[in-house]
Amino acid sequence: MKKKITFMWLLLSMLVLSGCGSSRPVETTEPTSENSNIVVGFSQLGAESDWRSANTESMKDAFSEAAGYTLVFKDGQQKQTNQITAIRTFIQQDVDYIVLAPVTESGWESVMEEAKEAGIPIILVDRLVDVSDKSLYQCWVGSDFELEGKKVCEWLHQYTLQNDIAAEDLHIVDLQGTLGSTAQLGRSRGLNEAAIEHGWDIVALRDADFTQEKGREVMTSLLRTYDNINVVYCENDNEAIGAIKAIEAAGLVPGKDIANGEIMVLSFDGINEEALEYAREGKIACIGECNPLHGPRVEAMIQALERGETPEKYNYVEEHIFSALPDVASITVDGVEYAVTEPVMKEKE
Ligand code: AHR
Repeated sequence: MKKKITFMWLLLSMLVLSGCGSSRPVETTEPTSENSNIVVGFSQLGAESDWRSANTESMKDAFSEAAGYTLVFKDGQQKQTNQITAIRTFIQQDVDYIVLAPVTESGWESVMEEAKEAGIPIILVDRLVDVSDKSLYQCWVGSDFELEGKKVCEWLHQYTLQNDIAAEDLHIVDLQGTLGSTAQLGRSRGLNEAAIEHGWDIVALRDADFTQEKGREVMTSLLRTYDNINVVYCENDNEAIGAIKAIEAAGLVPGKDIANGEIMVLSFDGINEEALEYAREGKIACIGECNPLHGPRVEAMIQALERGETPEKYNYVEEHIFSALPDVASITVDGVEYAVTEPVMKEKE
C-alpha cells in the first residue's frame, strides 16, 4: 500500500500550494527529510468545539513521525469547499491514505471518485457521507449519534416520571448542531422521535452550529421570543455553555427544578471540563457522551489495510451517559441498559 514518496517533493508541493515565499501560515506538517513513513492526509472539518480540538489532538498523537507516519493536516474551517480542496491537494501529493472528517453528509461523490481513481483509500472518521457507492470509502469510525439522542431523551423521560412532571408540561427548544452533519441529524432525530412518542412540546429548533457563541446568541433570542421554555436540548457542550450564559444573563436559572421556573439543560460530548463541572453542579442535567479519541482507532485501521486485511466497514464506539442528579440510576434504550454515571470523561479517568 505504502508508496514511499519522497518527502522533499512533498515539502516542495506544500510550499507551492501554500504560496511559496508569502507570510501565509502553512497549516500542514512539513516533512524535512526523505524517509519511508506512511503519509496520511487528514482533512479535519474545523475547530468549532472542544470535542473537535480533542479529536485533532488524538489524531496528531496517533500519526506521529515516531510512530512511522507523516501527517498532512488541513483544517476545513467548517466549510465543505475547503475540505474538497484539501482532498484534491492530498491527491496531487499522492498521499498513502486520506482520512476525512466530513462537515456535512452530502456533496462528496465527485471528489471521492477522484481519490478512488487515484488509488488512494479514504477512511471516514466521526461523521458519515451520503454517497450511493459505499466502496468510495474503506471504513468509518465514530458515534451512534441517534442512540446518543435517544439515551438523553430517555433520561429526560425517566426524570419526568420520577418527578411527576406531565409530558405536555415540557416545552423544549433544540439548539441544533451544524445542519446536515451526521451528529445533528442523529441527535435531532432522537429528540423528534421521543417528542412524538411522549407528547412533548418542541417549541423551536434553531441552528447553533456546535459553537459556544452561537449557543449563547440563539438561546438569548429564543428567551426573548418564548416565555415558556423549560428544557434546552443542546446538541453539544459548547452550545450548552453558551446557553447557560444566556439563561443566567436573562436572570433565569439553569437547573432541574422546572416546575419552579428553572430551565433544564441537556447536552452531548462530556470532554469539556467546564461543561463537566456544570454537570457536577447540576446546571447541565444530563450529558450523552460522545467520544473524540479516534486517533488510535483510525491508526489501527490503517495498520490493518497495510497488512492487506479488510477492516470492519462501520465501527461504533461505546459511550456512557452522565448525570450528577440522583433521580435516574439507569436507562434502557433498544433493549440495552446503560448505567447513568458521574460526569467524568471515561477515558481520562
Ligand atoms: O461530530 C461530533 C460533534 O461535532 C461533537 O458532538 C461536537 O462537539 C462537534 O463539533
